[in-house]
Parts: sequence; structure tokens; C-alpha cells
Amino acid sequence: MTTAPLIPLNDGHSIPQVGLGVYKVSDSEAVDAIASALQSGYRHIDTATLYDNETGVGEAVKRAAVPRAEIFVTTKVFQDRHGYDEARRSFDESLQRLQLEYVDLFLIHWPAPKQNRYVETWRALEKIQADGLARSIGVSNFHTHHLDRLAAETSIVPSVNQVELHPWLPQAELRAYHAAHGIATEAWSPLARGRVLDNPVLDEIAARHGVSAAQVVIRWHVQLGNVVIPKSITPSRIASNIDIFDFSLDDDDLALIATLESGERTGRDPDDVG
Ligand SMILES: NC(=O)c1ccc[n+]([C@@H]2O[C@H](COP(=O)([O-])OP(=O)(O)OC[C@H]3O[C@@H](n4cnc5c(N)ncnc54)[C@H](OP(=O)(O)O)[C@@H]3O)[C@@H](O)[C@H]2O)c1
Repeated sequence: MTTAPLIPLNDGHSIPQVGLGVYKVSDSEAVDAIASALQSGYRHIDTATLYDNETGVGEAVKRAAVPRAEIFVTTKVFQDRHGYDEARRSFDESLQRLQLEYVDLFLIHWPAPKQNRYVETWRALEKIQADGLARSIGVSNFHTHHLDRLAAETSIVPSVNQVELHPWLPQAELRAYHAAHGIATEAWSPLARGRVLDNPVLDEIAARHGVSAAQVVIRWHVQLGNVVIPKSITPSRIASNIDIFDFSLDDDDLALIATLESGERTGRDPDDVG
């Protein structure tokens, strides 16, 4: 069993650096995948209202041999529930589906700038944290201009910004902004939804280290300092995706991975969503 290191957050809490993402996973698949992940050493699960599997995630946490306090659970409010009151109602419903007394991290899923309500929504998250119902609060898919606006108009700096990040889109500028403002970078689609598995550069590095291309890329995230949440429902992949702490990438490997940058996204630009 492998234990991922904890990354300190700006509010005094900390987050396990490797977690299990459960996008496009059904309730029953989530129960099995999370059981498998906990056995492999994961202590961090990333869900969202959108994923429609909070019930399964809650069930898995309830059934787990691992105490609730040792499992880091993230969920998110989707942009169809922006606004102060609506975001709070969405949160309360999430908590009920999860059958939890608190979540470890609650995120605004997308800024949805055309609605222009993410500042109001953030104030609801500040209140949820003050009420002790989310240990940490953060955002997802925020560009620096969205973060600047929160900094100007609200009082709490997000602990995390969860963004699309992989070798094709390493987000160096955004990571530097996060570092300067005490925000942890969390990478979604860290394997570019599987695209990393079919790449000669990554295959070559993987062969040199005797690991898989997925392991190379997850190790790359960890060495950049990212929190990383690869999704899998396959027990062997779940286990290997966290088994990345007994090798390291050297400068030559990192330089080769840097050649893959193209700016390509698997998802949409956050300014165009919602
Ligand atoms: N905040 C946001 O807007 C946002 C957006 C997208 C995703 N996310 C979060 O980020 C998580 C991860 O992103 P993602 O699900 O889009 O994509 P991903 O983790 O980059 O890739 C998942 C795909 O890779 C496969 N895979 C995983 N490990 C593998 C391995 N070792 N070898 C071969 N194939 C492997 C999985 O297959 P199997 O499952 O069949 O094994 C699945 O098809 C999500 O689950 C979600 O929690 C957040």
C-alpha cells in the first residue's frame, strides 16, 4: 500500500497529493472503485454534483474500514446553481447525498463568467466554511482574472484551484500565480483522458524507468507540486496510479516532457462555459 504525501493548504488543513477522480463513474462503480482505491492507499476522492454519484461516494465512505476523518472528500457546485442562496441549497443537498457531516473541500466547479455570479457564489462558500461544513473551500477552472476579482471583492483566498493540466497544457503561468498567492494547484484530466498512453516520448521515458506512461505523467504532476486526481475504475490501474513514489524523473525526462506542450485542451476554455 502507498501513502501519498499531504500538501499544506492556506487555511491550515492539508490535502493528499494523489486522489481518485470519479467523473463518468456510476454510483455502484464508485462504491467499488473507492473500496479498491482505499485498499491501495488513496485517502482522497474527487466528486461533484455534476457527476451524479455523490450517493455512491457517500456509501463507499460509510462502508470503508478507513475512518471518515482520514478520507479527504471533495465535491463541487455546478453553474446551474450559482448565486448565494442557490449555492447553499446545492451544498446542503450534496451533503445529504454524501451522508456526511462535512466535506473536506468544496469548490465552485466553473466560474461561468457570463452569469457574473461567481463572486456571490464564493460568498456562500465562505459562509459554508464559517459554519464548519466544509473544512476548505476553493475554485475550479478559474483563470487569473477570475481569481483577481475574488481577491478584490471577497475576503478569503481559495485554498485550491482545480484546473485542466497535463503535459499538453502544463499551465506554467497559472501555477506561478497560484504559488505567489498561496493557492494549491490541482490537476484535472491529468492523463489528458488517456491520451498520454499513446505517446512515444512518454513510452520512452516509461521504458527507461520500468514503469507505465501513466505513472510517468502522474509522477511528473507530483514533481511539479500539483495535487493530482487520475480517474480509473480498473483496480490494477487504480493501484499503479498511486505507486509512483519509488522512482523520480530527472532533468532530461522533464525536458522531454516539456516538448509535448501544445496548449491543447481536452475540455472547454473556462471563459466560454456556462
Ligand atoms: N473540475 C473540472 O471541471 C473537472 C473536469 C474533468 C475532470 N475532473 C476531475 O478530474 C478527474 C480525472 O480526469 P478525467 O476523468 O477527465 O481523466 P483522466 O484521469 O485524465 O483519464 C481517465 C481515463 O484514463 C484511463 N486510465 C486511468 N489510469 C490509467 C492507467 N494507469 N492506464 C491506462 N488507462 C488509465 C481511465 O480508464 P478506466 O477508468 O477505464 O481505467 C479513463 O478512461 C475526474 O474523474 C474528475 O474527478 C474535474
